[in-house]
Amino acid sequence: MARRGRLVVANWKMHPGALQEARRLFSSIARRIRRVRGVQVVVCPPALYLSELVRSYRGANIRFGAQDVSWHAGIGAYTGELSAMMLKRIGAGHVIVGHSERRAMGESDKTVSTKVKAALDAGLAPILCVGEEERDHEGGYLSQLEWQLTASLDGVPRTQASRLVVAYEPVWAIGKRAQSAVTPRLLHETVIFVKKILSKKYGRVVGMKVPILYGGSVEGTNAGALSREGAVDGFLVGHASLSVRDFVSIVKAC
Ligand code: PGA
Repeated sequence: MARRGRLVVANWKMHPGALQEARRLFSSIARRIRRVRGVQVVVCPPALYLSELVRSYRGANIRFGAQDVSWHAGIGAYTGELSAMMLKRIGAGHVIVGHSERRAMGESDKTVSTKVKAALDAGLAPILCVGEEERDHEGGYLSQLEWQLTASLDGVPRTQASRLVVAYEPVWAIGKRAQSAVTPRLLHETVIFVKKILSKKYGRVVGMKVPILYGGSVEGTNAGALSREGAVDGFLVGHASLSVRDFVSIVKAC
């Protein structure tokens, strides 16, 4: 079977500290991946920098995304919130939803599923993050994963599922060095499991088409093996997306 195009998402989190640095980081990445083909790169900066980066970019192989979205559609009296419609209009095509760092701040599966729906309704592609906190030997993490994925997609219809992206991000592997990432073999097993759950919910045709990314200590040194042997469609990259060298080598490894 022909391999699908890969997707590499940069999650800059709350970095960098100033717009000028964001501009510099972005243009260095853009310059160095100009000739890369077959990989779609999505940069998710802090929302504050989005419109400026979108405006400055003339190329074609980077798209933009946000790191979070309000569950309220459109506009309204919701202090501090940004709606999917606003993000879409500013130039975002994707949005990360249910990242474990947001779940740790109190975001529930219910909230996450509402955000996924709001994103889809506005025409954004949600990158839904799921992942167990710990990996036990008895396989309890698989039930946790199944429960979290099913609850986070509650009410999301099959007709919209084709625009969904799922990022498997085990919490224990986030924000460490490459050696702490999941092994390619375990990743492969988990990806099959996630595809099974999606196929159960949406049918095989739709379920198998949802791109599955991996996130959690992906760096230049482990991206190749995880990409080749892990059966993933790409990566959601945290700290390594702030290093031009590391991020570019992850993109090239795909
Ligand atoms: P990390 O973060 O690459 O720094 O582990 C991944 C993420 O949090 O999305």
